[in-house]
Amino acid sequence: MDFSLRITLFSKSLLVSIYQAFAFQLILLFVSENKMHIEIITTPNEALKESGFGSLKACNSVLHAIQRLGHDVKLNVCENRACLDEVVKRKPELVILAVKYIALENEDDIWLSDYLSQHKVNFTGSSREVLKFDSNKVKAKIHLSNKGIKTARYFIATPGQYNKERELPFTFPLFLKPLDAANGNGIDDLSYVTRFENFESKVTSLYESFNQPVLVEEYLDGREFTVAVIKKNNNELILSAVEIIPPTSTNGLKILGAQAKKDDSETMVTINDHEIKNRVTTLAAAAFNSLGVRDFGRIDIKTNKSGECFFMEANLVPGMTHGSSYFPQACKIANGFDYDKVVELLLACGMARASSTMPPNLHPDSDDTIVAL
Ligand SMILES: Nc1ncnc2c1ncn2[C@@H]1O[C@H](COP(=O)(O)OP(=O)(O)O)[C@@H](O)[C@H]1O
Ligand SMILES: [Mg+2]
Repeated sequence: MDFSLRITLFSKSLLVSIYQAFAFQLILLFVSENKMHIEIITTPNEALKESGFGSLKACNSVLHAIQRLGHDVKLNVCENRACLDEVVKRKPELVILAVKYIALENEDDIWLSDYLSQHKVNFTGSSREVLKFDSNKVKAKIHLSNKGIKTARYFIATPGQYNKERELPFTFPLFLKPLDAANGNGIDDLSYVTRFENFESKVTSLYESFNQPVLVEEYLDGREFTVAVIKKNNNELILSAVEIIPPTSTNGLKILGAQAKKDDSETMVTINDHEIKNRVTTLAAAAFNSLGVRDFGRIDIKTNKSGECFFMEANLVPGMTHGSSYFPQACKIANGFDYDKVVELLLACGMARASSTMPPNLHPDSDDTIVAL
């Protein structure tokens, strides 16, 4: 090879190396420019009545997914106000709420969405006002039925309130459950009631365990569905609907009670029938929008024998346990999203609020604005 050819080759490879180094720097610059300071707040949640992302394991799965997306993320297991104050002082661009509130001894619970709104910190999920629809099933049912969205007929009962079958607002078969519990707590085969003496005893046992009037619904004898809903930046909804098939109990019932949920004995399957899928997703989107949910939520739906869909409940801080929670599982089954993709989508609106130059409380999607609507 003559000398001039060697020089040419050498300069070419030098140019390629310089170009590569430059491109690499650009990528690094892009990643660091888009790197966000994110914090997750959870609490030792065994004591909480309400659901959240799940155990520490679920929070760590979310944390690792966010790290893989290239962000700075810290997990806080807060038990007191001082811990929350520390989070606020660090001025995170986005706080992920893995639970709705932290419980304090001899003091009122601190609702995290309220606390962070007051401190003008951007956070994921819905405002305290909207979270009430998740905490209180009747509040959600009243709100939705006023907007023409179907939900099972219901009444509220306390022990001794009804003395005979004919006094009941409507009759058997009925389904009895706690007004504000989650994860199937208080729900078992005895929730399905066809006789007055069984009605009385389940009302008494639920009232004693949960210190709340009991929610009595007409029994829906059809199929069960859940829809993971994620709002995109452009306000479009990503809907991941699946059918849940509970195990059959010894009494031949198919109920997602506490035991089935603990044993993970239910199965989730794709909805192949387009018409049913359409009905289920339409109801879920209508419920999500009517309740004013921000960012994400899971809507549970049940049908009656003739296939009519009824809103059952909204889960606004859905479980995020990798490999078992309904929310990521539904996203996988219905849309093929892996866990990291689900976490990325969950944060998209929150991140957009963080990048917006508007203060979070004035942002069109702000919890404050939603409350005002
Ligand atoms: N009206 C009803 N008719 C029939 N089954 C019901 C009814 N309400 C609830 N269930 C059954 O009980 C399960 C739990 O009810 P749900 O209201 O979703 O409470 P949780 O918050 O504990 O998940 C449902 O998934 C369903 O299997
Ligand atoms: Mg449910």
